[in-house]
Amino acid sequence: MNVLVTGSSRGLGKSIILEYAKNGYDVIINYNNSEKEALELKDYVESNYKVKALVVKCDISKESEIDSIINKIYKEFGHLDILVNNASIALDQDFELKTKEDFMKTLEVNLVGTYLLSKKIGLKMKEAKNGNIINISSTNGLDTTYPESIDYDASKAGIISLNHNLANYFAPYVRVNTICPGWVNTDMNKDLDKEFIDEETSKILLNRFAEPEEIANLVYFLGSDKASYINDSIIRIDGGVRR
Ligand SMILES: NC(=O)c1ccc[n+]([C@@H]2O[C@H](COP(=O)([O-])OP(=O)(O)OC[C@H]3O[C@@H](n4cnc5c(N)ncnc54)[C@H](OP(=O)(O)O)[C@@H]3O)[C@@H](O)[C@H]2O)c1
Repeated sequence: MNVLVTGSSRGLGKSIILEYAKNGYDVIINYNNSEKEALELKDYVESNYKVKALVVKCDISKESEIDSIINKIYKEFGHLDILVNNASIALDQDFELKTKEDFMKTLEVNLVGTYLLSKKIGLKMKEAKNGNIINISSTNGLDTTYPESIDYDASKAGIISLNHNLANYFAPYVRVNTICPGWVNTDMNKDLDKEFIDEETSKILLNRFAEPEEIANLVYFLGSDKASYINDSIIRIDGGVRR
C-alpha cells in the first residue's frame, strides 16, 4: 500500500507521512521549498520503518509540475492507493491590504491544486477500481471568523464543495472525505501572539491546540478499511469549541 501526501516536508503533512510509514505504507513525500526537511524525512522513514519513500518536488499550483510527479509516481509504483491533499498557504494580512493577486495565489495553491491533483489521480484510481482521497480543509471553511483570512477561508470552503463532486464522480471505487481541523501546533501558527493564542485556547473545550499527530490519526483511520463505509463526509476535529 502507498500514499502521497502533498506538503509533507513539515507540519501536519510530515506527521501524516510518519503515521502511514509506521503502519508499513510506502510513502511519497512532496515538498515545494523545504527540500532538506523532505530528504531528512525520507531517510528517517526508510531507516526506522523499512518502507520505500519517494521525494517529489512540486508546486501544486502548477499543472505541469503536477503532471510530472504523477508520471514519476506511477512509473515508480504502478499505482497509488491514497492521496492526501494537505499542502496549503495562509497569507494573513489586513483585510484592506489584501490584493486580488493574494486572493488568487491562495486559491491557486489551496483549491485549484487540490482540484487538479484529485481529478488527475482520482481518474486513475477509478480506472484501477481502488483509491482513497482525503482532503485537509479547516474549521475556517465551515465558520469563517476573521476577515484577515478571507482568501484562506474561501479556499477551505471550496474544498468542502469539491469533496461532494469528487465523491460523486469517482463512486463507488474511490472514497473521498474531508477533515476540518481547528487550531494545530505547526509552523502555520508560529507567528501568532500569546494573547491571541490564549484567547483562542479559552474557546476550545479541551483547552489546548491539537498536536499534528492527533490529526494524522484521523487521516490514517479514514484511509483504512476500518472506515470502509465513510464516504463524502466532512469531519470536524477541533477539540470542541465553546459557542
Ligand atoms: N495549523 C493549523 O492550525 C491548521 C488548522 C486547520 C487546517 N490546517 C490545514 O492543515 C494543512 C497543513 O497545515 P500545516 O499547519 O502543517 O501548515 P504549514 O506548517 O504551514 O506547512 C505547509 C506545508 O504545505 C506545503 N506547501 C505550501 N505551498 C505549497 C505548494 N505551492 N506546493 C506544494 N506544497 C506546498 C509546505 O511545503 P514547503 O515548505 O516544502 O514549501 C509545507 O509542507 C493545511 O491544509 C492547512 O490549511 C492547519
